[in-house]
Amino acid sequence: EKGGYDYFMLKEIAEQPKAIADTLLGRFTPEGRLHLDEMRLSDDDLREVDKIIIIACGTSFHVGLIAKYAIEHWTRIPCEVELASEFRYRDPIVDRSTMVIAISQSGETMDTLMALRHAREQKAKVLAICNTNGSTIPRESDAVLYTYAGPEIAVASTKAFLTQIVATYVIALYLAQVRGIKYGDEITAILADLEKTPAAVAKVLESVEPVRQLARELKDAKSVLFIGRHVGYPVALEGALKLKELAYMHAEGFAAGELKHGPIALIEEGLPVFVVVPPKGRDVLHDKMVSNIQEIRARGARTIVLVEEGDHSVDPYADHVIRLPKVPTLLQPLVATVPLQVFSCEMATAKGHDVDQPRNLAKSVTVE
Ligand code: BG6
Repeated sequence: EKGGYDYFMLKEIAEQPKAIADTLLGRFTPEGRLHLDEMRLSDDDLREVDKIIIIACGTSFHVGLIAKYAIEHWTRIPCEVELASEFRYRDPIVDRSTMVIAISQSGETMDTLMALRHAREQKAKVLAICNTNGSTIPRESDAVLYTYAGPEIAVASTKAFLTQIVATYVIALYLAQVRGIKYGDEITAILADLEKTPAAVAKVLESVEPVRQLARELKDAKSVLFIGRHVGYPVALEGALKLKELAYMHAEGFAAGELKHGPIALIEEGLPVFVVVPPKGRDVLHDKMVSNIQEIRARGARTIVLVEEGDHSVDPYADHVIRLPKVPTLLQPLVATVPLQVFSCEMATAKGHDVDQPRNLAKSVTVE
């Protein structure tokens, strides 16, 4: 059932191009209407939304952090992202014009479910993004967009993560359309870019052998850092989370702009630092990131740089370069996360850990 792979995680990493394609399939009707799997919200309801709050846990929470960039950019609706376990304990401001998006692979995470129930009590419109048909979170929501990743068995989430990003983008585009902010042509153009991502992810998967090799080399590292900006920041957080979950290693993700406000003190000789470089089109961000790489390299860091193909500006300061296919900035997480998944998986294997069932973790946590 592992389809010839040693671990479910490897199989699930390999299934990502198909998972993305399946999640995109048939989402917009020829008239441009979004096809949600279960919909109890009208276009009028959607036009009323004046705030979006995303609630989720773990890897799904990182999807929320990425989604915020796309949602605010495309819809101009303010969007907050909150850990589900924190949400209801702070008396959040929620009313009938708030849309709460609950993201959960399993649909059974108790923290997310309790946050969702709290939101509904305050009359919020609740939309679920979920990978498990008929699970509790979609059942208790007003609308559901399923991710078609197929069953995810490995505890550490991979293909669900990428499909959840796609699902949030589809919702953002639909909200933009219903509210008259984006029109047919623009949406078609973005969807066309999204439709190219399965091929881009497949391309990344073909070139990950050096990443595996690197994981074996860094097996005894005491700590690994990840930095990024914009949507690359949550990618850095996800890279660090994967390494904690699977390799039981100390790892931290930072927003690169924050380095100088503290974390740069951590940099010492030989410390591996993964850097997610924004596409070159984002001139200011890109150039700031190149400076960050120079700064940490000057302090002895071993720099592992994820950068789009054709961009050689970082080569002089990179100990290792991982080339990513060229995609628009908002889609970069879909390609940049993949080598980080592979790195953690290989690191866990090199250390002799159970990749699919890391210690102390469960696939779905049904207690608060
Ligand atoms: C954790 C899992 O307990 O729950 C993580 O180990 C997962 O992998 C998190 O990201 C949230 O799960 P779900 O099912 O709500 O997306």
